[in-house]
Amino acid sequence: MKILGIETSCDETAVAVLKIKHGSFKVLANVIASSVKLQAKYGGIVPEVAARKQMEYIVPVIEAALKNIKSVDYIAVTTGPGLITSLRVGVEVAKTLSYVWRKPLITVNHLEGHIYSALLNNFQFSRRRQGFGEQAIFSEGIPKDSSESLRDNFQTLKKINFPTLALIVSGGHTQLVLMKDYLKYKIIGETLDDAVGEAFDKVAKILGLGYPGGPIVSKLAEGGDANRIRFPRPMINSGDYNFSFSGIKTAVLYLTRDLKKKTTVKQWNNETMYNICASFQQACIDVLVVKTIKAAKKYKVKTIILGGGVAANKKLRSDLAQSVKEKLDKVALLIPEINLTGDNALMIALAGYYKIKEKKFSDFSQMKVEANLRL
Ligand code: KG4
Ligand code: ZN
Repeated sequence: MKILGIETSCDETAVAVLKIKHGSFKVLANVIASSVKLQAKYGGIVPEVAARKQMEYIVPVIEAALKNIKSVDYIAVTTGPGLITSLRVGVEVAKTLSYVWRKPLITVNHLEGHIYSALLNNFQFSRRRQGFGEQAIFSEGIPKDSSESLRDNFQTLKKINFPTLALIVSGGHTQLVLMKDYLKYKIIGETLDDAVGEAFDKVAKILGLGYPGGPIVSKLAEGGDANRIRFPRPMINSGDYNFSFSGIKTAVLYLTRDLKKKTTVKQWNNETMYNICASFQQACIDVLVVKTIKAAKKYKVKTIILGGGVAANKKLRSDLAQSVKEKLDKVALLIPEINLTGDNALMIALAGYYKIKEKKFSDFSQMKVEANLRL
């Protein structure tokens, strides 16, 4: 079956076509246009700008993804959570295509997409940049001619053994989700204030480093000493599986304020900046790893999945892998390829696939689907 995935929950306009046959997958198209560079000028996401860019990009991105693909069998779309005006662009387009093509429409929660992204084994794409206004389209897998699309290069989908624990870490969410089966989710813990990606973004802003903060802070952290500054580890021993990251961010703010009394940020030597980034990053990671391991033991899970934009963080990936290896005998850890950690439509198409298997979708006459920012 061929599934068209559409993802417009924030500042990425993503469309993908995923072909699945007997538990193996093949990427026929994966196109992402992003307004992130434009958002960076404002120091963060401006919802109205994100939505306007979604409107501008959605048709060209769909056209690029469907180049040489004659038809699809299903359409899967993110209906939430996210920015309501951005979400609506994808949802209305998906409803329209579903109606015109007479193909079933599958609604997907953005966060379940992040969970399943770890199952797309060995999928690497070479980023082909094409000029697209001030942005870029990253595209891959669009066959040059139709004969190429017939060439078989299927990869096996990774398997999950249940119960499974998913740690979702993104710009909007930090959650521990217990899964008894595909599509069966129970949130057992979540952040009570900032999401961890949001904390990275805010710390980058405090330090004057730009947006989005995660990639910049983690890069600078590589040159620093994570033990140099002792930032707090909020709720690390709270006895539940919730998180809090705003306190770590505030500690960075106070330290920066104190340092600024003596010198301006520009006068700091690189080492100061590197050490703050490394120490901040480590405080966040310690809490995430400790709580994930605790929950995994308590619920006797067989698999741990990491997903979401912050899953691109190399230190988080290696610290979690190390802890699982040392403390959880026989538990499998699934981590997505770095290029599938950010928002993309392949993960939405794949989440759609599990719903198709369970026959959880509306038929094409079902036009009641709505975007839901708090899904
Ligand atoms: O999943 P995502 O692309 O969008 C949301 O659904 O929110 O996540 C974006 C978040 C941003 O906060 C960004 O700063 C963070 O992921 N991020 C990182 C790294 N790369 C992206 N955070 C820490 N380290 C990274 N390497
Ligand atoms: Zn996301």
